[in-house]
Amino acid sequence: MMPLDVITRALTAEPDIDYDFRVIACPDDPLRDRFDEWLSYYRYKYAVARQLTPLRITEIGVRYGYSADAFLSACPYASYVGIDDDSATYGGAPGALEWASEHVLIHTDAVLRRVSSQTLDSFGDCDLLHIDGQQDMAATYHDLSVGMLTSSWMLVDGTAFSAQVATATEKFLADHDLDHAVTREHMGQMLIRGLR
Ligand SMILES: C[S@@+](CC[C@H](N)C(=O)[O-])C[C@H]1O[C@@H](n2cnc3c(N)ncnc32)[C@H](O)[C@@H]1O
Repeated sequence: MMPLDVITRALTAEPDIDYDFRVIACPDDPLRDRFDEWLSYYRYKYAVARQLTPLRITEIGVRYGYSADAFLSACPYASYVGIDDDSATYGGAPGALEWASEHVLIHTDAVLRRVSSQTLDSFGDCDLLHIDGQQDMAATYHDLSVGMLTSSWMLVDGTAFSAQVATATEKFLADHDLDHAVTREHMGQMLIRGLR
């Protein structure tokens, strides 16, 4: 497996990426005013997938499927499992999952599970787990603890955006000796090597 410092260096030096999530974005997204601002954020998700080349991607927190599309555009042969409880919390919006399943996850090997990650004791084997669901302390710690067992890599979103996510991630890393690095400051993108 590629060393973390090689990956972080490669991400820093990523050449221009012309991936544009706005092509698949929902015109009725209540946060549509922020699409232009989000362009580089989703390009970064694309870059991560391009560096890690996961064959199996699992994501906690799907919303309209924008990160899913970024990952799958970089790795079109990957399978995808999305876990989202379809709640109007942490950015969730009514109709978001329908949009994801009808417009984004038309990928042949994609599964959307409408369930809270907090009720699961395994997310299944994957090469990349994107943790972007219930952004409070207990839930983030749970997602990390369960996720590390069956993931090669975990990308935690929001460590610079949510104090609760940051604290949970710090505590998790203090409790578990896993290779990790903040790979992007914007919003906070922490990449952690899992145990798989
Ligand atoms: C920040 S949004 C995800 C954004 C998405 N990853 C993207 O980049 O487009 C958070 C999502 O997590 C979902 N969510 C909230 N609590 C959850 C939980 N306990 N389990 C699974 N999903 C949850 C919400 O329904 C919402 O769609």
